[in-house]
Amino acid sequence: GYKLWLQYYPFENAEHEASCLPYFLKISVVGNSQTISVIKEEIEIAAEGFFAKKHKPEFQQNPDARLWIGTIESVPANLQAAWKSELSQITEEGYWIKSHAGRLFIIGKTDKGLLYGTFGFLKAVQTRTPLDGFEILENPKIQLRLLNHWDNLNRTVERGYAGFSIWNWHRLPRHIDQQYIDYARANASIGINGVSVTNVNANALVLTPEYLEKAKALADAFRPYGIKVYLTARFNAPMILDNLPTADPLDPAVQQWWKNKAKEIYGYIPDFGGFLVKADSEGQPGPHNYGRTQAEGANMLAEAVKPFGGIVMWRAFVYNEKTPTDRIRQAYDEFKPLDGKFRENVIVQVKNGPLDFQPREPFHPLFGAMPKTPLMMEFQITKEYLGQDTHWVNLASMWREILDADTYAEGKGSTVSKVLQGKVHPYSLTGIAGVANIGTDRNWTGHPTAQADWYSFGRLAWNPDADIDRIATDWLKMTFTQDQDFVNTTKEIMMKSYPILVDYMTPLGLHHIMARSHHWGPGPWVTGGGREDWTATYYHKASKDSIGFDRTASGSNALAQYAPVWTKAWGNPNTISLDYLLWFHRVPWDFKLPTGNMLWNEMALRYQRGVEGARWMEGQWMQLEGKIDPERYQHIASFLRIQVEEAVWWRDSCLLYFQQFSGMPLPPGVEKPL
Ligand code: GCU
Repeated sequence: GYKLWLQYYPFENAEHEASCLPYFLKISVVGNSQTISVIKEEIEIAAEGFFAKKHKPEFQQNPDARLWIGTIESVPANLQAAWKSELSQITEEGYWIKSHAGRLFIIGKTDKGLLYGTFGFLKAVQTRTPLDGFEILENPKIQLRLLNHWDNLNRTVERGYAGFSIWNWHRLPRHIDQQYIDYARANASIGINGVSVTNVNANALVLTPEYLEKAKALADAFRPYGIKVYLTARFNAPMILDNLPTADPLDPAVQQWWKNKAKEIYGYIPDFGGFLVKADSEGQPGPHNYGRTQAEGANMLAEAVKPFGGIVMWRAFVYNEKTPTDRIRQAYDEFKPLDGKFRENVIVQVKNGPLDFQPREPFHPLFGAMPKTPLMMEFQITKEYLGQDTHWVNLASMWREILDADTYAEGKGSTVSKVLQGKVHPYSLTGIAGVANIGTDRNWTGHPTAQADWYSFGRLAWNPDADIDRIATDWLKMTFTQDQDFVNTTKEIMMKSYPILVDYMTPLGLHHIMARSHHWGPGPWVTGGGREDWTATYYHKASKDSIGFDRTASGSNALAQYAPVWTKAWGNPNTISLDYLLWFHRVPWDFKLPTGNMLWNEMALRYQRGVEGARWMEGQWMQLEGKIDPERYQHIASFLRIQVEEAVWWRDSCLLYFQQFSGMPLPPGVEKPL
């Protein structure tokens, strides 16, 4: 599993192999840069895998080569004229692959575009797409496509379930591990163009010369692959590192400190991307400590990196136990009034939902609500609340649901995807970030199928409107095999896995009923201690008569943060999608649902359905033995066993717990708890 989706498996079919081979013999790559070198290397690696008889591709400047790779200005003059219209459509990082007179042209505006085009070409070969006549024009729809590593300097990973951090700070900067290069290749192959390498719960030490040298080594290793490095900034770093008496963003000495720090960082990393900041949340320092706004905090950092072309990604995940309102309202309440107050090189990074990466949340109400402030998406690729390392759930399905959600900000069709693309409100910056699921495990992600989440994330960040069925097919073929049976069966498991998991964990809009602090396994009974909004009972509010969180006008009124279409549709417990019922409403246990069941029975039946779904996944997988290598087959099989056991655990614990309140028997069809 180490090679992820870059396996470059040998052809199954000799005829197809023979038709592809000529494109790998003599190749003309115009240009000379580190990126051009990695393009050639990647083609060599791929050719080594694809062809039974070993051929080393020959790279020579040859206008007649079967495969020609070059930027727009190097396209031969006669073709320039003929292709004027298509060439003018290629944007900065985009590419055009064009079949012409038995040859393939990969054309980009920049070398980075050529690298993406090369991976596009190799994907076509990997998925056994006929090359003769192949043509595709691809431009990314999002500018900033980032992985956020929540990696600590001691190599632990916050919410990481695949071993330790792959950044070996001890060996850096002197040793560049091959793993960093393979990581960069994998990212480039899916269009990821930035990585913030450190935890949002930031350690100021990363801003010291000792660590900047290490970050520089990573940046140098990633640059040929078109990947910029970003760092997380601890807001009170001036106090920690240089004993300043304050970190007040309006204090001139503090502002100067950050300006100097930015200059210092750019001395190490001339193309440093900028800062990612978590402030005023979960104990992190921030502008609130000085009575300042989130905009004032963000703008100070933005001023510091601006002369060097850097940006600030300021997280909207801000909540506070001292604020008495419903936690899920707080980000909107805080940020909405600040719309238009951020500098142009600030982008506000918003989690997909208003709580915290739950199995299912409605979209975050800030999307569509900030016409004058660019917003970027934060998805969580690591499965903190979704079974962590051992559950198989295709996150692309959840992301598709969120991206397709309609904010109605500017009327029907104002989807979250369009908001992110700057098509609803004209944003100067656009971005999508994913909290990485990568660690030192041999297969990178712990669960072999969690590689699909990394892969799908990249594809959706490149094109948030992409078809997830197609993404899954590509991933399966590139990662495992072309065997149609395998691909179809596994894809069906993937496509059904998300609703299955929601059923056995948090059906009907239940949320945050996981165990305390580590968030693994059920814990609807979690109460008291710490802070109220970290307890499950705060969210489900089960009592003898009812269950659910009233977020309508009679409750916290968080619902009012959405467009009128939603306040209407979701405001009525009889018309709201059952997916969000208990998220927005508090209803009696015998509340009659459109399914014909009363609430208690529906809940029990959904938990049961989830368990049956997990068993079905396992059963489907068992039929695939022998279709792929035994190692990955077994690994997934043993994790599916755990998943089934844990689905039962979830069902039994939640139903037994909630039954104390409902006082009703389990309906027919629901198994007795073990
Ligand atoms: C969650 C998670 C934390 C993380 C936080 C964040 O609350 O449990 O570990 O720090 O999200 O996104 O900042």
